[in-house]
Amino acid sequence: MHKKSIQLLNKAIHEELQAIHQYMYFHFHCDDQGYDLLAGLFKRTAIDEMIHVEKCAERILFLKGEVEMNAAGEVQKIKDVKEMLKLAAKMESDSTKEYNIWANECAQNADSASKQVFESLVLDEERHFDQYDTETENLEKFGENYLALQSIERSKGRQAGTPAN
Ligand SMILES: [Fe+2]
Ligand SMILES: [Fe+2]
Repeated sequence: MHKKSIQLLNKAIHEELQAIHQYMYFHFHCDDQGYDLLAGLFKRTAIDEMIHVEKCAERILFLKGEVEMNAAGEVQKIKDVKEMLKLAAKMESDSTKEYNIWANECAQNADSASKQVFESLVLDEERHFDQYDTETENLEKFGENYLALQSIERSKGRQAGTPAN
C-alpha cells in the first residue's frame, strides 16, 4: 500500500475542497454584483476542482485508502473583485508548486500512476492561474470600465429577453 501517496492525495483533496468553497463564494458574490463574466469563470473553475477531487478520490480508493473529505481551511469573505482574483491566482500558483513536488515524491516511491494524477492536476491549475492572471490584467488595464461593461452586458441580455409590447 502506498501510504505516502494516500496521504498526499488526501492533502490535495483538502485543498481542492477549500478551492471549491472559495470559488463558489466568489461566484455568487460576482453574480450578485452583476459581473457575469467573472461569476461564470469562478463557477467553471469550481467545477474543474470538483473533478480534481474525484480523480484523487478514485486513486485513493484504488490504493485501498480512506478518502478524507475535509476542506483545508475557512472561506475568506472577500467581496472586492480585485482581491478575489488576487487570492484565486495565489491559490492556483501554490497548488501548482505543491502538486509538482508531490508528483516527484510519488515517483520516488515508485507510484507512477499517482504521479500522473498530480501531473494532470498541474496542467489544469496552470491554466486556472493563467485565466485569473488575464482577468487581473484586464481589470488593471481597463479599471472600472471592465466591470461596468460586464454589468451593461447583463442589462442588454435582460432587455433582449423582455417580450416586445
Ligand atoms: Fe484543482
Ligand atoms: Fe485550480
